[in-house]
Amino acid sequence: MNKNIVCIGAGYIGGPTMAVIAKMNPDRKVMVVDVNAERVAAWNSPDYALPIYEPGLVDVVKETRGKNLFFTTDIEGAVKECDTIFVGVNTPTKMFGRGAGRASDLQFWEATAREIKAYANRDKIVIEKSTLPVRTAAAMEAILNDHATHRFTVLSNPEFLAEGTAINDLLEPDRVLIGGPQDENGLAAIAEAMEIYAAWVPREKILTTNVWSAELTKLAANAFLAQRVSSINAIAGLCEATGADVDEVARVIGADRRIGPKFLKAGPGFGGSCFKKDVLNLVYLCESFSLHTAAEYWSGVIKMNEHQQERIVSRLFKEMFNTLANRKIALFGFAFKADTGDTRETPSGRVARLLAEEHVRLAITDPKALPNARRDLADLDNVEYFDDEYEAAKDADAVVVMTDWKSYPKLDWEKIYDLMRKPSLVFDTRNCLDRKRLAAIGFKVLNIGK
Ligand code: NAD
Ligand code: UGA
Repeated sequence: MNKNIVCIGAGYIGGPTMAVIAKMNPDRKVMVVDVNAERVAAWNSPDYALPIYEPGLVDVVKETRGKNLFFTTDIEGAVKECDTIFVGVNTPTKMFGRGAGRASDLQFWEATAREIKAYANRDKIVIEKSTLPVRTAAAMEAILNDHATHRFTVLSNPEFLAEGTAINDLLEPDRVLIGGPQDENGLAAIAEAMEIYAAWVPREKILTTNVWSAELTKLAANAFLAQRVSSINAIAGLCEATGADVDEVARVIGADRRIGPKFLKAGPGFGGSCFKKDVLNLVYLCESFSLHTAAEYWSGVIKMNEHQQERIVSRLFKEMFNTLANRKIALFGFAFKADTGDTRETPSGRVARLLAEEHVRLAITDPKALPNARRDLADLDNVEYFDDEYEAAKDADAVVVMTDWKSYPKLDWEKIYDLMRKPSLVFDTRNCLDRKRLAAIGFKVLNIGK
């Protein structure tokens, strides 16, 4: 068994994860392959115009690319050259047939398994990096080992990094999880995978389980995080109705060490490619095993999240004299969170669409996500895109802060006030601006949970 590693899928997960593995394992060759030639070309671009924005990523790629990290479209060559194969292809929500709208679409995973089988020249360890429904490894092992001349051992090594902090999360993970078959062959494969991470992660943080636990843990971890966001957002509505302040409530709840302070920030609801997809997948799994009450419980997390964006539009409607048609509203931030250009499932996208239904004239600005915003909203008329926040705010009736970019509190809000139509409204859905200062300037200020 050689020490070379390949990851199939050069996306948000494959690129950063393999860059860090290469950095911390200079003695291993690490290859990242993708069917998308344009994406691979961007990873290889001479000026490091990488296909995704992630703080610190460029430095790691600069340090490793061409030395022991290689991006390529040659899947066959890479599978032949490497005995450890990570698979980090996309697993979106299935949009057709059985389980549509809830189950994971595993077509990319299955295609990958068949490619691995076709090109393998020796025994291989195949490691699930993508987030997958419980028991996918069994299906993959069945495909791979059916009439096979080589032996394939499938492990589950789900990734817990968050976008915007991916490099730090990878360098200093809370834990690394490796699940594998509990037989001699499986335990040997787990030991091989552990060696990769042990290059920089303390051994006690590398947790091992059986395959099914690892697969389910990933879905459960995301569901717990999403549930915390929906829980605090549910309290936010109550705060608005009663005069309580959600940030104060969250601070005090979080001071209980059993609860902890993280993931208690009320806002426009969670976005990102994974929370909704993974909770829906959990719902589908529960239903498949006739656990209907559990399915309903987790569905509530999604329902609450969607309600949060509807509430934002309702509150704007009410504050703007029940008519939004032809009013100009500037959305500050289109990324689903700060420090990323990713707009998948972004709350801004949903709010933009709800406002467009009311014939609002939209002005959108974001430091990193404008190209994705243009693509996502290409079907909408009446949307303008601005690099400059002041241009976006010019003649607007309202500014709605949707993403908590650190640059937003530092803007010249007096200047923004002068540029806007009067009365001027700021709806800070992230509660990231100084509310008192805005009010002193003359703005009418709305927040979530206040
Ligand atoms: P992505 O869409 O950014 O990347 C997936 C890549 O796989 C794409 O570039 C695609 O072209 C490629 N691909 C698809 N089929 C292929 C094939 N047969 N051969 C070669 N390449 C192929 O997706 P992502 O955000 O990186 O997510 C990938 C998986 O990781 C998902 O299961 C997701 O749930 C999980 N995950 C993502 C994150 C995150 O922060 N984005 C975090 C943890 C887990
Ligand atoms: C999330 C998890 O945090 C990762 O552990 C996981 O690996 C990843 O999903 C995945 O499986 O893809 P990510 O979606 O990148 O990471 O970002 P988060 O920081 O979790 O934020 C998710 C959403 O929740 C964002 O829209 C964020 O603004 C929102 N959020 C988060 C809140 O509204 N309030 C909070 O207190 C925290």
